[in-house]
Amino acid sequence: MIDVRCICAIGHRGQLGLNGQLPWEGNTNPLFVEDVTRFFALTMGHVLIAGPKTVASVPAFAFEDRTIDVIRSHEDPEAVLARYPGRRVFVGGGIAVWNVYARYIQNWDITRLPYDGEADRWFDPAWLVGGAFRAP
Ligand SMILES: NC(=O)c1ccc[n+]([C@@H]2O[C@H](COP(=O)([O-])OP(=O)(O)OC[C@H]3O[C@@H](n4cnc5c(N)ncnc54)[C@H](OP(=O)(O)O)[C@@H]3O)[C@@H](O)[C@H]2O)c1
Repeated sequence: MIDVRCICAIGHRGQLGLNGQLPWEGNTNPLFVEDVTRFFALTMGHVLIAGPKTVASVPAFAFEDRTIDVIRSHEDPEAVLARYPGRRVFVGGGIAVWNVYARYIQNWDITRLPYDGEADRWFDPAWLVGGAFRAP
């Protein structure tokens, strides 16, 4: 069975993204910096699958010590997950990806950050309670 997880960070009202980046991008408050550091620590050595915009926002260093794959809408989600037998797979978003893959995620690690500004991408709580399927 594939261990399918998600780590994400949201603002006070579920803000996830803005202009292709994190809404709080560039904020040097230690809480924001530590959250990004923690994301890379927990995903190290594992697999990160995400849509093209999310992967484009991943810094170059992160490709060195984890498997990062762009996934596309024409791909069957179970076939995608089946590429990684025995691995821990983090589903990294964005929105349309979580809409489809949420049902396979056994562990959600969501940090609420002290951000209450603009966003153009939002967390959907329905992802947490949708029908659960066992990954292949
Ligand atoms: N706060 C956080 O923790 C967090 C985490 C991740 C992302 N974000 C933010 O979210 C934003 C990027 O997300 P996004 O939603 O705009 O774009 P995205 O990452 O490109 O994800 C959406 C795209 O994934 C592709 N996709 C792959 N498999 C799919 C499937 N089975 N069904 C449907 N679509 C699928 C589709 O592109 P095609 O149709 O072209 O294949 C879709 O348009 C950025 O602002 C980023 O910073 C935030």
